[in-house]
Amino acid sequence: MFIDFAPLTGKIQSLTAVQSHGVVLGVDSGSIKIAGLSHRARVGDQVTITSRGETRDGEIVSLAHDHIRAMAYDPVEGIAIGDRVTLGAANSAAPDISWIGRIIDAFGKPLDKGALFQGTDIARLRRRPPAAAQRKPMGARLNTRLAMFNTMLPIARGQRLGIFAGSGVGKTTLLAQLARGLEADVVVIGLIGERGRELRDFIENALGVEGMKRAVVVVATSDQSPLIKRRAAWMAMATAESFRDQGKHVLLLMDSVTRFAEAHREIALTAGEAPSLRAYPPSTANLIAQLAERAGPGPEGSGDITAVFTVLVAGSDMEEPVADITRGVLDGHIVLDREIAERGRFPAADIRRSVSRCLPGVASEGENSLIARTRRIIAAYEKAEPMIQTGLYVKGSDPLVDEAITFWPKLDSFFSTDGYNNTDESFGQLAALLGQPDPNQKGDEESVLFAEKHQSEFPHAVRSATPLETETHALDVRINSDSA
Ligand SMILES: Nc1ncnc2c1ncn2[C@@H]1O[C@H](COP(=O)(O)OP(=O)(O)OP(=O)(O)O)[C@@H](O)[C@H]1O
Ligand SMILES: [Mg+2]
Repeated sequence: MFIDFAPLTGKIQSLTAVQSHGVVLGVDSGSIKIAGLSHRARVGDQVTITSRGETRDGEIVSLAHDHIRAMAYDPVEGIAIGDRVTLGAANSAAPDISWIGRIIDAFGKPLDKGALFQGTDIARLRRRPPAAAQRKPMGARLNTRLAMFNTMLPIARGQRLGIFAGSGVGKTTLLAQLARGLEADVVVIGLIGERGRELRDFIENALGVEGMKRAVVVVATSDQSPLIKRRAAWMAMATAESFRDQGKHVLLLMDSVTRFAEAHREIALTAGEAPSLRAYPPSTANLIAQLAERAGPGPEGSGDITAVFTVLVAGSDMEEPVADITRGVLDGHIVLDREIAERGRFPAADIRRSVSRCLPGVASEGENSLIARTRRIIAAYEKAEPMIQTGLYVKGSDPLVDEAITFWPKLDSFFSTDGYNNTDESFGQLAALLGQPDPNQKGDEESVLFAEKHQSEFPHAVRSATPLETETHALDVRINSDSA
């Protein structure tokens, strides 16, 4: 009979040859002061505290010459002075390809039915990003199946994007759409600080059976210790890195960076770090930057991690520390707008305020001019919208606004469509609805005829790009003189 011992190798590797013990000196401000381990322990190592036969695990958060401080994963009630503390292994993970299709916790234990094999290679939870000079450049544009992200806000292989929005504007639902539709070999989803009741809804309804087939879901719910929430984000990252190192293109979806940063804040303040940026400790900026840097294109010969992180921005305050730090370290940001969500258009991205930094490189000249024209139409419409809605705008006052009034509803509904087989198809649709030739079908007679027909109706339809400033300035003047 053949017995495969490979899954046990990782577990054996993580065992320590010598057991070190210490004792509890006291418990204050959420941390446990321990004596006797200062010269053996490292920050991030795990400890087990035994109180009256009951054990509870924790993690070392600070070291001093004569004592160490740990935080427990569970409530500290019942811990007494003199309780025995056993030093455990370093914070590591052993992701395995068999994790695909499974739901796991921050420790790599299964949250669904069935045993879960551990991989043979031990991955550090906090690993350095690949050296910048060895990394591949950002790859080609990916099919997301969603019209908006196939055209206006493209996502390239190895790109790192943020979704910024207030609560309940559709961040998680959009992540699930990307998990189902975006081209990738494997999807790793980190649900950090989600409400427990939402987890099932996410797995069963938003992700569905199809989405789950290629996904690993790492979960830490809102009621769990900040240590577990922070660890779950690193576990998701370590899992994505392990698949990337096997040459796979991984889509990493993290919901949310805000909960990750809040968990770190709680840990760092307990460990004695002073708060600075609106109560966030100074290490928050580095923590977020390191997490974001670990995603992205891999070194030559390995795969890539395309990543989407969500950020909760209270009251649309993009200057709020976590939003500000995250936006600065990513290659693009998508801003979801409550007003757009309220009128029922999903994804509720505010295209004017959203940026994908893989543009203009990933799009052709024709596609870029189509994107620029669409942006101009959206800008013209949004600027004139109060006048249009109140009936103050007089048709014929500005050809661009007239054009925008006609195209706006079509664009608005186009942006909520999905199911595209490739990005060319989405651009073809966008071009058709704006009455322009398909940028990927040069010389397509039908498109040209369609465009010509619309040119008489809308003079802007097929003309070459004009600078946005000129047109919006003209619009300003028109609106001012109209209202005067
Ligand atoms: N694509 C969509 N189609 C229809 N409704 C949607 C869509 N996306 C979001 N919604 C609506 O918005 C609600 C909130 O969505 P979601 O939970 O994704 O938001 P969120 O930003 O993740 O919220 P939270 O901040 O609470 O995590 C959903 O319950 C649903 O009613
Ligand atoms: Mg959510």
